[in-house]
Amino acid sequence: TQTVKPLIAGNWKMNGLSASRAELDALARGVAEATAGRVDMAVCPPATLVATAADALRGSGIATGGQDCHTAASGAHTGDISAEMLADAGANMVIVGHSERRADHGEDDACVRAKAEAAWRAGLVAILCVGETEAERKAGTALEVVGKQLAGSVPDRADAERLIVAYEPVWAIGTGLTPTAEDVAEMHASLRAGLVERFGAAGEGIRLLYGGSVKPGNAEELMSVANVNGALVGGASLKAADFLAIAAAT
Ligand code: G3P
Repeated sequence: TQTVKPLIAGNWKMNGLSASRAELDALARGVAEATAGRVDMAVCPPATLVATAADALRGSGIATGGQDCHTAASGAHTGDISAEMLADAGANMVIVGHSERRADHGEDDACVRAKAEAAWRAGLVAILCVGETEAERKAGTALEVVGKQLAGSVPDRADAERLIVAYEPVWAIGTGLTPTAEDVAEMHASLRAGLVERFGAAGEGIRLLYGGSVKPGNAEELMSVANVNGALVGGASLKAADFLAIAAAT
């Protein structure tokens, strides 16, 4: 197995107004001390703040990402945003297939796969999310469900330069609940095996993030699990101090 530099990415979801510029500036000021270059960081604000974030974070080493993109580059798709537009606004990456998109917008694996391809077309890194529901975890089908999502959502020719996979158990998102370190280890080992089986050595270097109620207090334990190469952080990424504390604990 390769050594993979961890990434701590923040998903602001539908939070943040222009006043968030102050949090972005605080992140840019604090990142060097918090990470000492050991950890990469990224912020995925709502689309209205992508250009602001890219501007505030320029030169800090913190990347900027979108939270979703359309599959097309442009066209008659009212309300949608393309990967090319995110790149034009200064984004380096985009989240695709978050469970909130899968649930709220009916996105299936084929749709998520097409969005990841769109991200690549625009030169963005795709942060592709997978994760089981509470019912699936209780039924003992979590590994199978997530394995199917991975196989169905990840396009061909994936590599570490273009793809990051985030495992987010739906029941752990915003709930304060987290899986045990053993359960995370089991899932991430299974994801790693799936990537290596399909992509060979390239699959070894693809970052596997854990997401779901990551906080400063549990980051050290979760981030030290085998095959966990960082975190996708929701609520705790909204305050620069908390988000930097998670990076520092990694
Ligand atoms: O994408 C990150 C997310 O779904 C986790 O949210 O608030 O549980 O950290 P949260």
